[in-house]
Amino acid sequence: MTSKKVKKIGVLTSGGDSPGMNAAIRAVVRTGIYHGLEVYGIMRGYSGMVEDDIIRMEGRSVANIIQRGGTILKTSRSDEFMEYEGRKKAYENLSKRGIDGLVIIGGDGSFRGAQIFSNEFDIPCIGLPGTIDKDIAGTDFTIGFDTAVNTAVEAIDKVRDTADSHNRLFIIEVMGRDAGYIALHSGIATGAENILIPERKTNVNDIILSLEEKEKRKKLVNLIIVAEGDEFGGANELSAYIKSKLPNLEVRVCILGHIQRGGSPTCMDRLIASRMGYHAVECLIEGRYNLFVGILNNKMHYTPLDEAVKKKQRINDEWMKIVKILAT
Ligand code: F6P
Repeated sequence: MTSKKVKKIGVLTSGGDSPGMNAAIRAVVRTGIYHGLEVYGIMRGYSGMVEDDIIRMEGRSVANIIQRGGTILKTSRSDEFMEYEGRKKAYENLSKRGIDGLVIIGGDGSFRGAQIFSNEFDIPCIGLPGTIDKDIAGTDFTIGFDTAVNTAVEAIDKVRDTADSHNRLFIIEVMGRDAGYIALHSGIATGAENILIPERKTNVNDIILSLEEKEKRKKLVNLIIVAEGDEFGGANELSAYIKSKLPNLEVRVCILGHIQRGGSPTCMDRLIASRMGYHAVECLIEGRYNLFVGILNNKMHYTPLDEAVKKKQRINDEWMKIVKILAT
């Protein structure tokens, strides 16, 4: 890739939206304008790049959005961009406007797209980790996780009130097709008895034994948090299994779903989005690219996209031990 001074940059949001994406867009646009760059918003993720849905952005275009969930640029998972022909079209659409740098806000799938695109074409790319799943290695935070997990905690606390009134077992399903961070953090924060995540093998017989033991000592309120992508299945599958083994237990299911993806971002998400967005533009200006901007130990941390797409954020075994000890 040639090292040249960027003059016109594009910003897009891709994959599942996450609260704080707007704060990141705002930071990219305003930092770009501060440095005298032309900034373009690419609509609907990579689809807008392929279909030439690209708009010029000014400082005022991002006014009054820092507090809003979702993404003003809209988002998608583009099939066309997965094909070389689609990426070529996208490159031509950028080239005809002279766009010579890109900021991609999204999760690991979006980074994969950026990595392939930047290897094929001469466009410097910077990724910003925007996903509620927090499953990207190389950063302690992803934009949207804090809001999503706090939404889950608020909802689970409410479920506990009714679980307590009726002495019921509630199985609560949270988001995370491939990742258990929302389940793990919200489960610990709400005092759940069991947390089922895709990163660990689920032993349902252990769950049955522990429920039997709790029934004997009259522990009547139980919350089990399950990530939607757990290998055993989601909340409905687990509930059916438990009912078949313990027919006297009153079990209810609650699936939190997409409410976890929306809502006004927390202060934390607005801060990290602003900080990461600012640094994304600084990277492009300094000629550092094809990396994603993360924060590790409260310092900016830059991971090459080639490396980022190979790794996933792991879950430390100590978390699982804490869950077990605190749930007695
Ligand atoms: O963006 C991540 C995520 O919310 C996952 O936790 C979830 O499994 C998936 O997206 C759902 O995607 P969709 O909204 O396309 O069904």
